[in-house]
Amino acid sequence: MFAPAIYAQRRARLQASGLSGLLLFVGNVDSPMNYRDNTLPFVQDSSFRYFFGLNEPGLAGLIDADSGKATLFGNDPDVADIVWTGPLPSLAERAAKVALDSSRAYGELAQALAEARAAGRAVHYLAPYRGETLIEMGRLLDVHPAKVKDGFSPALTRAVVALREIKGVEEIAEMEAALGVTHAMHIAAMQNAKPGVIEYQVVGIMEGIMRRHDWQLAYPSIFSRRGEVLHNHHHDNVLQQGDLILNDTGCSSGQGYASDITRTFPVGGKFSTRQRELYDIALDMQLSAIDAIKPGVKYQDIHKLAARVMVERMAELGFFKGDAHEVVESGAYAIAFPHGLGHQIGMDVHDMEALGEDLVGYGDGAERSGLFGLGYLRLGKTLKAGMALTVEPGIYFIPALINAWEKEGRHSQYINYAKFREYTDFGGIRIEDNVLVTETGSRVLGEPIPKTVEEVEAVMAV
Ligand code: GLY
Ligand code: MN
Ligand code: MN
Repeated sequence: MFAPAIYAQRRARLQASGLSGLLLFVGNVDSPMNYRDNTLPFVQDSSFRYFFGLNEPGLAGLIDADSGKATLFGNDPDVADIVWTGPLPSLAERAAKVALDSSRAYGELAQALAEARAAGRAVHYLAPYRGETLIEMGRLLDVHPAKVKDGFSPALTRAVVALREIKGVEEIAEMEAALGVTHAMHIAAMQNAKPGVIEYQVVGIMEGIMRRHDWQLAYPSIFSRRGEVLHNHHHDNVLQQGDLILNDTGCSSGQGYASDITRTFPVGGKFSTRQRELYDIALDMQLSAIDAIKPGVKYQDIHKLAARVMVERMAELGFFKGDAHEVVESGAYAIAFPHGLGHQIGMDVHDMEALGEDLVGYGDGAERSGLFGLGYLRLGKTLKAGMALTVEPGIYFIPALINAWEKEGRHSQYINYAKFREYTDFGGIRIEDNVLVTETGSRVLGEPIPKTVEEVEAVMAV
């Protein structure tokens, strides 16, 4: 937990954002694995944790935006709880840890909300994303669970996004702590990915490093010789000499801050000429994008810049033809780069995505594109100093996509399908780092993880 004053300051800033009425934050409860008392690792709701700090189930926070008074709702442990859990702090003690001098029994929350509504006061809340929370909020607000989402507060959402998207120094330090462990995980993966090894054996080594810190994954690991499958969560292939491995693995720090790193490397430790040519293009896309990041620039334009670098360089190899600008604007480039350049990162790996992807990633003059590929970009809006985001271009050869587009002749004036067909066994490349937008440009967070061909080959030779 951060210092209590951090939470008081965050709540004061939220109160100063001009809202009136009550601001309700319902924390998460335990999620059963297969029956009630056998639970998945607990993950707190990030907005609750941002303002109320406590990483335990069964809590809610209420801020009176007019008076500034904030109250924690929860239950004191009784002796039956303590038999199973050991001694626990009282609710008032937990409240004090996050600079709150007001705490009430959880059972009083529904009544407090009903009284406010009866007095004509607004109750603002964020859109829930878990079934349990949806049902609980239906009960607390006396509406059918199916109607709860309709009543979420866009004004509170915008106010929360404005705060959470500008990272404090304590948050950046946590993200760099997560990246320190992620660094070790990625190096271990490179050094253990030998011919004959099964993918899950390497995944086990990486996750063991993380578990030795008592941390959890920030998202399910992608570690595969079939890197062209974008969300490939299977780990059962046997690695073969020369395979290209895509490893997208990150963890969640003690304070719940995510890292999200991808590296791509060859089994056996030496890139082939064909792999190296395309890897260098992906790296050029990433470095050009990082170089272009600064306050005032739209991330949608940086996505297009990365696409343009790819098209120009892949055209030299014979993959694309025609004017590079047109290849990008038409969307033809997405045959090789069909996802977005990146997203915000913080407490959630796709930070704040539960609050509404468009409310978080667009607005201020940026609209989500309808094009295949660019339309998947989660962050399109203008960058501000203090934002943390991922930069993760890729080049993939997806046989189903190549075949489908060729069959319908899509963008055939820009795409050399015969050349793409020669690469349908290639797999995929992605290179992903976590980057802070600074006042003047950007800074890649964390200790550098081998990224150039030479750096990757050197660390794999050990
Ligand atoms: N690891 C998920 C992502 O890169 O967005
Ligand atoms: Mn990733
Ligand atoms: Mn990512």
